[in-house]
Amino acid sequence: MSLSVKHLLGIKELQPEDIETIFRTADNFKQVLQRPIKKVPSLRDTTVANIFFENSTRTRISFELAEKRLGADVVNFSASGSSVSKGETLIDTVNNILAMKVDMVVMRHSASGAPWFLANHIDAAIVNAGDGINEHPTQALLDAYSIRERLGGVKGKRIAILGDIMHSRVALSNIFCLKKLGAEVTVAGPPTLIPKHIQDLGVRVEYNIKKALEWCDVANVLRIQLERQHKPLFSTLREYALYYGVNKDMLDSLKKNIVIMHPGPINRGVELNSDVADSKQSIILDQVENGVAIRMAVIYLLSGKGGEITE
Ligand code: CP
Repeated sequence: MSLSVKHLLGIKELQPEDIETIFRTADNFKQVLQRPIKKVPSLRDTTVANIFFENSTRTRISFELAEKRLGADVVNFSASGSSVSKGETLIDTVNNILAMKVDMVVMRHSASGAPWFLANHIDAAIVNAGDGINEHPTQALLDAYSIRERLGGVKGKRIAILGDIMHSRVALSNIFCLKKLGAEVTVAGPPTLIPKHIQDLGVRVEYNIKKALEWCDVANVLRIQLERQHKPLFSTLREYALYYGVNKDMLDSLKKNIVIMHPGPINRGVELNSDVADSKQSIILDQVENGVAIRMAVIYLLSGKGGEITE
């Protein structure tokens, strides 16, 4: 079992077979995570640095748990409170961490492309934990894995990605991943939040949220990323919630039960109402749970350790 890539920078570079290998490996790690002792010693001679230049709750904790459950040593670095504030560069920062015998780097950065830049300058394996508005590959993998788990597969399923597509690395990685796995994808939201030419990626565009919900088997609802919007792209959050938010009345009016997903953090009452986020149709916490097994699989496969993983 191995991947065709040395780093996990984006889903764009993966082959469909890589994604299937990650899923099969994650299946094994999900079993490990059901045991009383949720740990294997596969990476006990490996040290992983999680370096986060941007805020995170789920991704950072999920990577740290995944690494610890593989038996790895873990160091965590946050740009705030570090020597980055004194002007130290990204490459100097990472080379200093690697000089302390670190084997693998998991990085989140606000600059799109930062993990590719780093990969050109260091030897250690890099996992992209989200770069600007570009890619968030492990989120897309855990999203597709959660769809596979709930619906028995991804091929042929209709997935609607709703909301702020323009500023979403989750949207782009999901589109790459779902298309590679044979799903049909529609993106839906206000015209100002959908990039021009996105149809070139093989997706449909819909501006009416209700029509997108009527079409899909799964709705992946995305957060409005106000922190990345440098000019107003819609009038008010209230107006956004009214025209583009997903609520229970809307779901009840459909003639079927669709699956609701959200990568988090949720702006409750804006893109998603609590009566949907906390409903039986929602698999939001399953996504979070699956994130640990998916990240264990990615770290394990990139480590090149091979061998028995469920010992
Ligand atoms: N889904 C996601 O990336 O969440 P965090 O920003 O909390 O890591």
